[in-house]
Amino acid sequence: MWFIVFGAILTFTVLYFQRRQNLERKKLNREIEDLKKKWEVATQNLRIEEGELETVMSAISDAILAIDKEGRPIFFNSKFELVFGQGRLPRFLRVQEIFGDPKILEAFELALREGKSSSNHSFKFKSELGDERYFNLSVSPLSRSGLVIYGALGNFHDVTELKTAEQMRIDFVANVSHELRTPLTSIKGYTETLLDDFQKDPLSLKEPSTQEFLGKISRNADRLMNLVGDLLDLSSIESNEVFYKEWVSTEIIMTRVCRSMEEKFKTKKQILTWNCNQKEVLADPNRLEQVLVNLIDNAHKYTPEGGHISVSWEREDQEVVLKIKDTGVGISVEHHSRLFERFYRVDKARSREQGGTGLGLSIVKHILQKHEGSVSVESALQKGSTFICRFPTPLIKS
Ligand SMILES: Nc1ncnc2c1ncn2[C@@H]1O[C@H](COP(=O)(O)OP(=O)(O)OP(=O)(O)O)[C@@H](O)[C@H]1O
Ligand SMILES: [Mg+2]
Repeated sequence: MWFIVFGAILTFTVLYFQRRQNLERKKLNREIEDLKKKWEVATQNLRIEEGELETVMSAISDAILAIDKEGRPIFFNSKFELVFGQGRLPRFLRVQEIFGDPKILEAFELALREGKSSSNHSFKFKSELGDERYFNLSVSPLSRSGLVIYGALGNFHDVTELKTAEQMRIDFVANVSHELRTPLTSIKGYTETLLDDFQKDPLSLKEPSTQEFLGKISRNADRLMNLVGDLLDLSSIESNEVFYKEWVSTEIIMTRVCRSMEEKFKTKKQILTWNCNQKEVLADPNRLEQVLVNLIDNAHKYTPEGGHISVSWEREDQEVVLKIKDTGVGISVEHHSRLFERFYRVDKARSREQGGTGLGLSIVKHILQKHEGSVSVESALQKGSTFICRFPTPLIKS
């Protein structure tokens, strides 16, 4: 009997423990499932955050590099890779292998070893293709809870455009000062001579040289006036001057411009012809006149006596094309790309002798840009030149 009771108790105990074990296993499985879900959510969130960080970093125009204590990249954005790695920067490279400039390495060292931020380290970087860019570097330490430094973050701000603009400004001021000084020195010199002569002998003003000196003073004053006028024009066109475009008759504007220049052409026995196959152009009439005067005046100045200057107006699809062609001295190809820069002159002496300041073509370029058009040149030395202006003009008047 006791044997049966013992058996029942044993069976009951085994069943009890089996059931408990099953329950615990199920609980454990549930907990594992829960943990798995939490892990998946956490990884997904991390991936989203990583993606967001990457998007933010690639949207930043600066190049960003984060390194660990050994100088190995933890992270760099696409701009950094593009500029400093030509788009194929291996992640195992250390900062010392990317940059040779000790200034850059010292800035990172300072952040890594002493936890100090530093900024405005300027340096020049030459790419494998040979183009040079300028950067300002700021470096900050990366730390956990503000205590343990585990790396450094470098922010490379590209200042190449700023540098170029600054250089252009410096060159411009130097050029303007030089151009102003030459006629001013002449005016001052001749005026002082005349004053001296007058003080010594008031009757000396009747000498023929007086007239010659006064003529020189007047010509130099004209040069100054032209220069100041051109400078004012340039700054007005470049600033926010509004252009009022309207349908301009090419025949009427050509007649007006050519009439005002007739005398000049006669003195050099030059022939000026034009044809207006295209009758109208959409442009600001005053600025268009300035384009014509500048280009026709150049053609006149840089074409010897007896030369021929022809102007044509044609349509090419959505553009009206103005061509000014001369049989003059021509311009060799190496000058073509710089011709439209301010103060650029192929032959400074010849241009100055003609009273030129080197701003005419720059004004033409800016006027065309404001019309969303373009100006170009076709020319070769001793072969004459053709300046081509394109004005966007719809086929149908609106
Ligand atoms: N038709 C042309 N034939 C040959 N050279 C030209 C012609 N037009 C311009 N150039 C060259 O381009 C340079 C720049 O022309 P631009 O009109 O800007 O200046 P400029 O004529 O010297 O002076 P200005 O500002 O008084 O017009 C000239 O100095 C000249 O060397
Ligand atoms: Mg000119």
